[in-house]
Formats: sequence, C-alpha cells, structure tokens
Amino acid sequence: MEITEKAPAKINLGLDVIGKRSDGYHELDMIMTSIDLADRITVRELKNEHVIRLQSNSSFVPLNKKNHAYKAAMVLKKTFGIKTGVEIYIDKKTPVAAGLAGGSSDAAATLRALNQLWQLNLTTPELAKLGEQIGSDVPYCVYGQTARVTGRGEHVRPIENPKKFWVVLVKPSFGVSTPEIFRHVKLDQIPHPNIDALEQAVVTSDFNALLDNLGNSLEAVTLAKHPLISKIKERLLASGADGVLMSGSGPTVFALCQQEKKAQRICNSIKGFCDEVYLVRML
Ligand code: C5P
Repeated sequence: MEITEKAPAKINLGLDVIGKRSDGYHELDMIMTSIDLADRITVRELKNEHVIRLQSNSSFVPLNKKNHAYKAAMVLKKTFGIKTGVEIYIDKKTPVAAGLAGGSSDAAATLRALNQLWQLNLTTPELAKLGEQIGSDVPYCVYGQTARVTGRGEHVRPIENPKKFWVVLVKPSFGVSTPEIFRHVKLDQIPHPNIDALEQAVVTSDFNALLDNLGNSLEAVTLAKHPLISKIKERLLASGADGVLMSGSGPTVFALCQQEKKAQRICNSIKGFCDEVYLVRML
C-alpha cells in the first residue's frame, strides 16, 4: 500500500516578531498562505523491516534523521508504538532554505500520509499538535490553508475562503539560515506590520488594503546581509508589481497580482535577472 500527499509551499503575507520568549523562540503574529508550488510525499509500507527509509529526486534533501519528514515518521512511531517500517519518497519541487517552509510542509504531508497508511484516524488539530515537536511552521503546514498564526507557530486559526491572488516568486541562488536571521533581530529596531489590518484585508478581499499592510519584521534583517534581495524587490516594482515582500526569513521574494496576465508579464521581465522564478497561485 502506498499513499501520496501534496506538500505545498507557504508565503507570509505578514510576519510580526512581537518578542523573545524564555525558551529562545520568538513570539510571532503572522498571516500565512499556501501556494500551488508543492513537493509530493509518497509513503510505502516496508514489510519485514522496522526502519524509516528516505529517498528523493533532489540532492538538496538530507536523507537522514535531520530531515523533517523523517522526524514526522519518528514522532508517529514513538507516540503510537508503531513497529512497521516505511519508505518516504520526497519529490522535491520547492526550493530549500528559501523562506517557503518546504521541509516543514514535507513533514506535515508525511504526518497526513502516515495517518492514513497506519490508520491512526487523527484529526487535523491532533496532527498539528504532534507537528509542534518537529518545527515551528509544521502546525500551519498541517492545515495548509490561509491562516492567522501566533505563538511560536503553534496557534493556527484558519481564514475561510480568502480570495486567491497570483504570486510571482523569485528565489535568489543562495539560501538563508532561519536561526541566524532570528539571532540578529533587534526588537527595538524592527518594524511591526499591522497584522489585524492585514487579516481584515484578507477576510474582505480588499486587494489595496492587503498591499498596504504587507509587512515582514525579518525583512530588513535578511536584507542587511543580502543586498541582492533589495535589488529583486526594486526590479519587481519596476516591472509593475503592486506589492512585493520577502517571505519568512527569506531569501525568496514574492509579488502579488490580481490578474494572471500581469503576473505573467512580471514573471517574464524578472526571468532575465534571476534564474529561479515561479508563477503560482494562492491555494
Ligand atoms: O522551530 P524551528 O526548528 O523550525 O525553528 C528554527 C529556528 O528558528 C529556531 O531554532 C529559532 O532559532 C528560530 N525561531 C524563533 N522563533 C520562532 C520560530 C523559529 O526564534 N517562532
């Protein structure tokens, strides 16, 4: 028996760093949305074996215990005392170390897939709770729909039926380490986007208000280390994008568009400047 689950990438329409917690994590307030750029996770029972075996089409994916999909299988095995082995195949499409939660989404898709394979009958909130043990973005990725996300990422409140905009994603050729970016956050120096106003804009499908309230507290921190991100933002704006923002801790930058034609134009124009460009849509 074999089960395949999609693992969509996410972007942050808003990310506010509110404070630093005593456990070392930061208190966040975010609007996250998933996009139709996705890895595919296939899980298959291994008869007569107890191991978790990882395979991937990508050389960027670690095929060891550090992999978030591996951790997801381990959490379920330990929690429910499952002895059977499993092979997890990761068909990688989402760029890694990009601010798109690729690894966290792989973990979430592995939780969903193994929930079926091992007939655990866990609910989405139960899977999200288990996901907290793997990484801060995993609970959101278990839901995989537009949501207000708070705490260190563990409180997920879905926002139903948001309007779906087109998204041009631009991924510079370097990756970014999330812990390193958080280490350089100076709480008294970062901007604080208005996440309440952003949520209201999403709920009411008010595109102009959405553009006005796009914001990411981490952007300036990553930008200071990687000036190319500013250049990409400038290029996107010069190509006619109405609003552009870095996602998560970066370095991927996105532009939002109401019309596919406009998104396609921006996409074509930025392709000469950056190799990795994707035209996708909010899910
Ligand atoms: O939870 P995860 O392992 O994905 O987080 C990676 C790192 O990012 C953490 O070790 C921490 O340094 C930083 N982080 C943070 N606050 C959060 C989420 C992540 O400081 N809410």
